[in-house]
Amino acid sequence: MAMLESEGAPAASGATLARHTAVLPAENVTGYRAFQAGSFEFHRDEYFARITWPGGSHVMPVDYFLRALMRDVAWGFFYGTVNFDGVFGTTNHYGEVTMYAGLYNDSFKAAGRDFSERFDSNDLMGVFKAMIGDWTNAGYDPFAAPMETGTPWGPKQGANHSAVERLRVTAKRMVGLPGDTPVRTDESGFPVNRMFHDVPQDAPKVFAEPGFEDEVSAFNLFAYLSRSDVTWNPSVCSVVGESLFCPTSEEFILPVDHGNDRCEWFIVLTDEIVWDVKDKETGKNRARVIMKAGDVACMPADIRHTGYADKRSMLLVWENASPKIPELIAKGEAPLVSVQF
Ligand SMILES: [Fe+2]
Repeated sequence: MAMLESEGAPAASGATLARHTAVLPAENVTGYRAFQAGSFEFHRDEYFARITWPGGSHVMPVDYFLRALMRDVAWGFFYGTVNFDGVFGTTNHYGEVTMYAGLYNDSFKAAGRDFSERFDSNDLMGVFKAMIGDWTNAGYDPFAAPMETGTPWGPKQGANHSAVERLRVTAKRMVGLPGDTPVRTDESGFPVNRMFHDVPQDAPKVFAEPGFEDEVSAFNLFAYLSRSDVTWNPSVCSVVGESLFCPTSEEFILPVDHGNDRCEWFIVLTDEIVWDVKDKETGKNRARVIMKAGDVACMPADIRHTGYADKRSMLLVWENASPKIPELIAKGEAPLVSVQF
């Protein structure tokens, strides 16, 4: 048994943290390893991910599980809550993370059957990275649209480390600035996606005053997004203080129900995205939002949402990344909605 045990310092939050993690031997029949984090245990077989915890168990189709796990890993547990489905997921405390079963599910809560444990983020991330690496077969890319990748089914067959170890784009100031994350080109391995051949690839010309060459820049955001090789992956492309523009290209389904811990602006740049919006705590339906190119919406801080895009679509997600916001909202000092009419 390979142990990932960490003898960490006391939790910064003062919370009691689960410290135990382990990678179990490969199973004889399927070839997949099993994993432990705290009291949770994870197994996969040909079709399913199976999760157990004291007093309960859960099953997810493994394609859906891997797509959600991939986002949680690449996003570093993201803002707020990443619901893999209506039962299982993680909530980010920024340095620590809660992994839960049924915590945001009305039926589990009402029956007193929800279960959760809190981890140091690095401990849980170590297990999640090992799991996505072991459970992803050669030829399958959990970040890709279903029509642009293979299938995840069957016993273990190789691996796809280059796909699951992609780094999320996080510009320090803006894409294309000297020393910052580069624009995408054919030469750098980012061809135009099959659905975006109609997107102009011209680039703006910039004439900076002498001495300001490192300060003035521009790039064609549509061309940049047309070359994204992944879906549902908001990437930080420009930063002003704590204001982040996180554009992304979307196709098929956002494979998580994202539980916001702050307001979140969406601007659909091309095509159409349909959002299912539910109550963050209970999962009860609240709204269906159909957004076409040019539509702007602000998702409230007390909801969870998933999205659907038939044709590959471009979306601008605008986040205020201030770490103070969740606490301000919890105290009632910041609003749940950004605009009131
Ligand atoms: Fe969200």
